[in-house]
Formats: sequence, structure tokens, C-alpha cells
Amino acid sequence: MTETRSPRKVLILGALSAMAAATARRLAAQGAEFVLTGRKADALEREANDLKARGAGSVSIQVIDLLETSRCDAVMDLAVEAMGGLDTVLVFYGILGDQAQAETDPQEAERIIAVNYSSAVHWVMAAARALEAHAGSSGVLLTASSVAGDRGRRSNFVYGSAKAGLSVLMQGLAHKWAAQDNAPRAVNLKLGFVDTPMTDGIEKGGPLWAKPDDIAAIAERALVKGGPNVYAPWFWRFIMLAIRVTPFFVFNKVNL
Ligand SMILES: NC(=O)c1ccc[n+]([C@@H]2O[C@H](COP(=O)([O-])OP(=O)(O)OC[C@H]3O[C@@H](n4cnc5c(N)ncnc54)[C@H](OP(=O)(O)O)[C@@H]3O)[C@@H](O)[C@H]2O)c1
Repeated sequence: MTETRSPRKVLILGALSAMAAATARRLAAQGAEFVLTGRKADALEREANDLKARGAGSVSIQVIDLLETSRCDAVMDLAVEAMGGLDTVLVFYGILGDQAQAETDPQEAERIIAVNYSSAVHWVMAAARALEAHAGSSGVLLTASSVAGDRGRRSNFVYGSAKAGLSVLMQGLAHKWAAQDNAPRAVNLKLGFVDTPMTDGIEKGGPLWAKPDDIAAIAERALVKGGPNVYAPWFWRFIMLAIRVTPFFVFNKVNL
């Protein structure tokens, strides 16, 4: 997709996610500047070099465990300083966790909620403040949520509840911004099955599975227009509509 706007100034929270990296490669080809965050310095350096080779402007890295939410505003300030502005924040970090363990070990349930939801609330709110201050209507905040948040099911309802929280947070933010002049845009990707390291433990294959670059193409388009809810790929909108309206007496017989 061709953009007529100036290259984006992008902060990625969870830049080492397979989908985040694929999205960054597409934006790099448009000359975007980046601040990449993640826990692994070496891998971030490699990604930064790769993005520069693909046409990115400046690329900085910030090594951080994103559970360190006391640093949210400082990271936003650092991004603004490094790029001379900030107009795009991508929130891609997350974990699947272990549902069976979470049912007997409160620490695992807490870990799933902390990574996917409670820390994300801090980062989303800090990003919203930064985009309001520095980008106005050219700002976009994009999050990676999941269709798992559309209806609780036995195989992953702790993770699903965290993603449901994230989706509602983003819907509310989009609703708030819709009532304001010169406000940024909130886009929440509701992802289906994607072949990434996160899903390594799950049997893959078949038409429902997407590749990271399929999602990157959707994210790239969603940064230009659309939202606030973007099912990725699109067919999940209809699958989840069917799943949401299925009565309990039928749903209870389905092993999902
Ligand atoms: N893959 C799917 O089928 C699918 C479906 C629905 C939604 N999603 C969502 O999509 C997003 C991206 O996932 P992905 O599939 O691209 O998986 P991925 O490649 O495994 O990426 C997840 C990334 O999150 C990072 N991360 C986790 N906890 C972190 C923390 N505390 N601080 C900093 N970074 C942290 C991981 O960093 P480390 O390398 O340091 O562990 C990893 O780079 C996630 O939010 C996920 O929930 C994925």
C-alpha cells in the first residue's frame, strides 16, 4: 500500500514478536523510524540492522521487560526524543501461557493476566497520552488482541479473559477519541491462529492458519484506515459471530 504521508515514527512494544517484526519490515520499506523494545538485546540489535538495511530511518533499541510498567512514560519520552516525535505505537508483546497450569497455580494465571492485560493497560494509557500530545490525528495506536477474547472456552479462558480486557480497553479508547477533534486512532487486531513461536506447541496447518506476514499486511492497512476492531484475517469476524451466538447447550458439546 502506498502512503502519501511522511514516514512513520514507530514505537514497538514487543518488537521481537514474529508479527511485530514482519510489520516493521513493511514499514521500514517506507522509510519509517523505529524505537524497538524487548527483552533480548542481541536479537533487537539484529532486527535493528535488518530494518536499516530495508530502508528504515533511525532505529533505536530499548531493552526492557514490559512488566516494568513504572517505565511507561519514560519509554514514551525516550521514543519522542530518539525520533523527534512519535505517531505510531504497536503493542505486540504477549504470552499464551498454560491454561491447565493456570487452573491449579494462581501464579501462572497471574502471569498470563499481567503480561497480556494489566501491564498492557499501563502501556496503552501511556501510549495514548503520548500520541495525543505529539501526533494528534496522525497518531495510531495498534494492539494485538485475540479472537480468544470473544467467547470464553475451556482450552484457554484465562488468556481469553486477558485479551477480552485488552479489546474492551481499546474499544473504549476508540470511543473516547471518536468524540474529540484532532485525536489519534485506536486499532485493535483480533487475531486468529498465526504460525509464530507462540503457537509452536499447537498442531498447525489448514486454511485457518495465517503467516506473520499475512498479519503484517493487515496491520499495515489498518494503520492507514479502519478499526477499531479488525479481525485478522477477515474471516474470523464471521467465525466468531457464529461462535458468539451459539447457545450454551450446543457450545458445551464442542471441544474448543
Ligand atoms: N500467534 C497467534 O496465533 C496469536 C493469536 C492471537 C493473538 N496473538 C497475540 O499476538 C501478539 C504477538 O504474538 P506472536 O504470535 O507474534 O508471538 P511471539 O512471536 O512469541 O511474540 C511474543 C513476544 O512477546 C514478548 N514478550 C512476552 N512477554 C514479554 C515481557 N514481559 N516483556 C517484553 N516482551 C515480552 C516475547 O519476548 P521474548 O522473546 O523475550 O519472550 C516475544 O517476542 C501477542 O500479544 C499474542 O497474544 C497471537
